Amino acid sequence: PGGGSCPKSLLVCPAGVDCINSQCFDPCQNYTALNNDWRSTNNTNIQDLHCDRNIDWQGWYRLFLGQSSARIPERCIDSNRCGTHAPLWITQPHPTQAGEIVNRTVCNTWLGSCCYFNSHTIKVKLCYGNYYVYKLEKPVTCYLAYCAGIVIL
Ligand SMILES: *[C@@H]1O[C@H](CO)[C@@H](O)[C@H](O)[C@H]1NC(C)=O
Ligand SMILES: *[C@@H]1O[C@H](CO)[C@@H](O)[C@H](O)[C@H]1NC(C)=O
Ligand SMILES: *[C@@H]1O[C@H](CO)[C@@H](O)[C@H](O)[C@H]1NC(C)=O
Repeated sequence: PGGGSCPKSLLVCPAGVDCINSQCFDPCQNYTALNNDWRSTNNTNIQDLHCDRNIDWQGWYRLFLGQSSARIPERCIDSNRCGTHAPLWITQPHPTQAGEIVNRTVCNTWLGSCCYFNSHTIKVKLCYGNYYVYKLEKPVTCYLAYCAGIVIL
């Protein structure tokens, strides 16, 4: 294997770089745009329910609401928002230092609890240019979906 390769047995990607399909990628340069207006924390319409367990998440994502960068809220969001029953939010602040990849716990709000079903973990990176990218994972059940909150700059 050439330079920058990262066989699963031997993770050699530098800090802030992720190994995807045995290659090192900077997720700030290599993400999928996730632009779903229904993910807005302001969306209280649950006629059309969404479940992120049904999505085959691959690699890293950048959230948008319209033309603006968005982020997963750092606070408990009421149930029946974000186009789903149990909105997904992260329990600790976003990273403040560009370049580092951090783990964050994802909770979900249901039946009056901010963390009703089992939580799960995602990775988050702050990129130069002031946006975040997320390595999203399937939540444990339906209907749970990631919220898009506060627009960045
Ligand atoms: C992004 O990553 C994928 C693999 O996940 C790769 O196929 C693609 O070439 C990469 N794109 C860039 C611009 O690095
Ligand atoms: C994030 O969690 C993974 C295990 O899921 C661990 O290997 C890694 O060291 C953690 N990263 C940080 C920055 O804590
Ligand atoms: C939700 O609505 C408020 C008030 O109109 C607005 O300030 C905020 O930016 C909106 N949030 C999102 C995620 O659209």
